[in-house]
Amino acid sequence: MSGGIYLDNAATTWPKPECVYQAVDRFAREVGGNPGRSGHRRSLEAGRELLRCREALARLLEVRDPARIVFTRNATEALNLALNGLITPGTHVLISSLEHNSVWRPVHRLCRERGASYDLIPCGRDGRLNLVEAAALIRPETKLLAVTHASNVLGTLLPIAELASIAHENGSLIMVDAAQTVGRYPLLPEEDHLDLLAFSGHKELFGPTGTGALYIREGIELPPLIIGGTGSDSLSPEQPDFLPDRFESGTANVWGIAGLRAGVEFVLSTGISAIREHEEELYVKLIEGLSSIGGIVVYGPESWGERVGIISFNLEGFPSGEVASYLDEAHGICVRAGLHCSPLAHRTAGTLDTGTVRVGLSFMNSEADIEALLSALRDLTKSA
Ligand code: ALA
Repeated sequence: MSGGIYLDNAATTWPKPECVYQAVDRFAREVGGNPGRSGHRRSLEAGRELLRCREALARLLEVRDPARIVFTRNATEALNLALNGLITPGTHVLISSLEHNSVWRPVHRLCRERGASYDLIPCGRDGRLNLVEAAALIRPETKLLAVTHASNVLGTLLPIAELASIAHENGSLIMVDAAQTVGRYPLLPEEDHLDLLAFSGHKELFGPTGTGALYIREGIELPPLIIGGTGSDSLSPEQPDFLPDRFESGTANVWGIAGLRAGVEFVLSTGISAIREHEEELYVKLIEGLSSIGGIVVYGPESWGERVGIISFNLEGFPSGEVASYLDEAHGICVRAGLHCSPLAHRTAGTLDTGTVRVGLSFMNSEADIEALLSALRDLTKSA
């Protein structure tokens, strides 16, 4: 498959920086061993590959102990791991009204099955969260606030440090879903006093799909989701109690993690501020262009300071799915339409019935990509 323009980076980034392809290729062709399982050179090098990636993530997030970052298949698995351990009978959970199904569904099911309950912290139509309302909803039995760092529909950033203070004043924990912000927005879980941070490796960290991680603050005890071979403590029938082995049973996705390390190092060497600046330029160009085309409604906050480069819009008279199909079929432009696995966010934005067309920007996009999108949308409106 060749050509075209990729603007579905909120689903997964593509293309990746060249170093990511090279790192996967190198590991696959030249190393190939199973980390932590054997004493030979290929196994040892595979183990070092995992360690280097964990250390790179710890540098990016300024986490003191890299072992507190455990690898998962994706952000959804990381969120499930945390929620499974924290939602216990009689507890109460608060989630925002922007949450992706990867938070809403496990919270809903675990609360139903375990005799716990949850409430939504309401956000405005543009996704802004009111801290006073959040504080009013917290109760003595609220054990956890589980909130996204940025909506995967509206791009709106939530005030996670302030929410962490509200949670901790009440004796609650806070877990942040950073799938859409890690690698593109400053994120310091220890400075912001976050208890748990779940993220994908394959979005703005530019790793391959099948990579994700959970940061677990020291002192938080969770049962593992999966138990089995870890290559450590093999005589014991019990799962190791130390990190990261406690949460990393089964052979790790080392090919993917080798690529993820290269992606994280690309982010570290480029710098979050340069990445954010580039996305801002693309965002400004896109917003100016969209507002010059009649009949387009853009959702989410206008000000760049309150958002990341995820832009949802609708074109009057055209269902969102039709716009996305037209862009793909007539112009080779990939965007995502519909509900984006986030019916809560669409209900909040007032777009549950229509869905939206979503543009997900990445550092790898250029101004030419935005011009091509705007030109295609102009053609579509003229054809009506
Ligand atoms: N969560 C990803 C998205 O929003 C897959 O598209």
